[in-house]
This record gives sequence, C-alpha cells and structure tokens, in this order.
Amino acid sequence: MTTQELSTQDKDLIWHPFAPLLSPFEYIPLDSAKGVYLHTSDGKTIIDTVSSWWVNIHGHSNETLAKALYDQAMQMEHAIFAGFTHEPAVRLAQNLMTLLPEGFSKVFFSDNGSTSIEVALKMSLQYWYNKGNTNKTKVVALDGAYHGDTFGAMSVSGRGGFTAPFFPFLFEVDFIDFPTEENKEQIYLQFEKLVAHEDCSTFIFEPLIQGSGGMRMYSPEILDRLIAIAQQHDVICIADEVMTGFGRTGKVLATDHVSHKPDLICLSKGITGGTMPLGITACNAKIEDAFRSDSYAKALLHGHSYTGNPLACAVANASFEIFTSDTCQQNIQRVHTKHLAFAEKLKAYDNIEKIRVQGTIIAFDLKGFGETGYESSARQKIYPYFLERGILIRPLGNVIYLMPPYIITNEELDTVYQEILTFLADH
Ligand SMILES: Cc1ncc(COP(=O)(O)O)c(C=O)c1O
Repeated sequence: MTTQELSTQDKDLIWHPFAPLLSPFEYIPLDSAKGVYLHTSDGKTIIDTVSSWWVNIHGHSNETLAKALYDQAMQMEHAIFAGFTHEPAVRLAQNLMTLLPEGFSKVFFSDNGSTSIEVALKMSLQYWYNKGNTNKTKVVALDGAYHGDTFGAMSVSGRGGFTAPFFPFLFEVDFIDFPTEENKEQIYLQFEKLVAHEDCSTFIFEPLIQGSGGMRMYSPEILDRLIAIAQQHDVICIADEVMTGFGRTGKVLATDHVSHKPDLICLSKGITGGTMPLGITACNAKIEDAFRSDSYAKALLHGHSYTGNPLACAVANASFEIFTSDTCQQNIQRVHTKHLAFAEKLKAYDNIEKIRVQGTIIAFDLKGFGETGYESSARQKIYPYFLERGILIRPLGNVIYLMPPYIITNEELDTVYQEILTFLADH
C-alpha cells in the first residue's frame, strides 16, 4: 500500500483512541520504529519522547525482546491458563517478587493497565465480602485521578470530560482534593474522616504522579502519611503503578519512595518494555489470606482469554533482565540528572510555571493558554509544532512533559531540550 492509500483506508475504516472521529490531525503512517525513533512512511524520523504512551522503556524494536518473543512463539504462543501453567508465567512471578515490597505473595495476570485496576478493585472489595463485612463498599480516590477506561477504572477516576457520558453508570467514590504542600494538613483531616467511616473499604492512588491528570506531582511524605492513615483504619490501599512502575520515578516502583507499603500494586505499560500488552495485579499476604479457601464462593472468579499469555510473559522476563541491568539503572539516573539540569535552564522562562522533575519525567505548565484540559488550544498548537521538527510531544492541556525511553542518549535529549527552548523563546 502506498502512504496515500494507507491514510485513506485508515480514515475509512479505523476508529482511533481518544480523538473525535473527525480529528483535526492526519494519522501519520509509520513504517518502522527503532530505538527512540519512529520512522514514517514518507521517510521522516520522529523522536518518541513519550515512550509511545509511556510503555516503551528500552527503545523500539529491541532485539533481545524480539528474540524472546520469537523463541516463545515457536515454542507455545498461548494456552488456556485455567487448569494449566507454564514456565514463562512462573518465572515472571518469581522475577516480580524480587521487585515488589516484602510481604507480597501473589500475582494475577490480565491484559492491560485498566484490567489490572479492575482486578485490584475486585480483590479489595471481595476481601471485605470474604471476611463477611458487606458494609465496606466505599472507595476513596484522589481528585483528578486517571486509572483507565473500563467502568471500574473510570469510576475511581476523576469526573471530567473523559467520563462525562457515563456519569450515571459509575459507582460512587469519595474524592479527596489533590494534595499539595499548602493544603496537606487539611487533606489529612479530610482523608481521615473518610477512611474512618465504617463503609470505607479501599484507597486507590497513582503514587507520586498523576499522569493523565497533567503530570501532577506530590511528595513521598504526603503519600506515606495518606497510606499510614488509611492503614490505621484498616482500609486496603491500591497503588496504581501502571505508569510509575519500572523505574519511571527513579526507583523501581514509586512506592519504593515511601515506608508504608500498599496492599495491592497494579503494573502494566513498562512491564514488557512496550512490546506486548500485559497487566499484573500483585497482592500481599493479607489480601491473599482472605481468598485462601477451597470454596468457589470465596474465589476471585475473574479471568481473560489471554490471561498469562506466554508471549507477553516471555517478553516481560527478557525486559526484566534488561531493566535490572546496571546499564539500564544507570540510564535512568542519567536521564534524571539531565532533566534536573534542564529544569534549571527552564527557570529563566517566565511564560512557564510549575517546573517539576520526578525520575525520568520532566513537566511544566505553559502560561497564557487559557483552559488546561485535554482539548486545550495549547495542545492544538504544540503537538504539530514539535512534530514538524521531528519530535513527538503530546501535551496534556497546557502541560508539556517528556517521558522518554531510558536508552535516549544525552545528545538526543539535548536536541529535544533545545527545540523546547526555541519554542518557549518564540511563544
Ligand atoms: C496510572 C494509569 N493507570 C491505568 C492506566 C490504564 O492503562 P491502559 O491504557 O493500559 O488500560 C493508565 C494509562 O495511561 C495510567 O496512566
């Protein structure tokens, strides 16, 4: 197919995510992707500074991951995970246990970030049901949260444009204001009141950073305190590490920055290095214990056709080896250090504010663009501006952020930084 034919067929047949059907943007045909680069069908090269929706941590078309995928596909591509097991899944469970907090004892496989959240919510709610406490049905979440697009995940996400058509169908959740250094004492009080209530079962949060909510960051000290308060009242804590897991915040998990550990952790995105879809819900022994029964009435009766997919597990195991290597860990620290230095440079620009860095993520807000939502005018302007210059930046409203694959070189980072400075000088 020619590039033109591809575009036309796409327009006729395909419904793309998160966009109006009559999108103002053309969908750019891609031929290939390698390292930090996307290669378009018409011969252009684009630096992927968003790791293709935050999944790609080792660069595109990584040969080790590709080989793991090929080898596994030749051996066993998929098999029903009810009544059977296999080495890639067991090895992945063992590998993940080395990264998860002490006391974690089980992993449950699903297909993506949203399903890992659904499973976590069901485990938490059924935990209380299995214990015979049917009062505990309430979930507390953070205002502005984003936990995915399925109904449970939408229910615990902030109410806004993404979920507006479904408001009547979402279950009721208590939202606390987003915590900051200024309002934290008030938030602790607000939070304590909610979790102390006898119907409160669960606290779910994106640790340290709300991604889709605008790369909003809050301190480990605040998170630690919130988890501590929730656990004082025996409320189950779910850390949504779908975006933050696998090094994004500078440590393996964002919850590695705090001393009070959640009871459930959701992982996806970076787990396969961005090669295969996979979701994991991991739980500690406290949760597991409530399900330790031979009765179907107490079982988690949940599963997906592709649960425990051997291809995804094999790639995740190969990705684990790369991720835990010294080179990868050094790259994470190198990207972090580069971002910190760039943040210093950004301070000279008075058309931006709230410059923030956490691990391999840097973000700042543009001033003077009015509305801050997903469909803000800033996005309409910034996205094409950088694409024309060979850089993929997808602003969240007026928030510009970078979340590159860890293999991005200093020179590639400097190219991106320089284009951002040029943009800021001109706008
Ligand atoms: C924190 C968080 N949770 C859940 C999800 C949903 O993941 P998925 O898109 O794989 O369903 C996302 C996706 O961006 C996310 O950032």
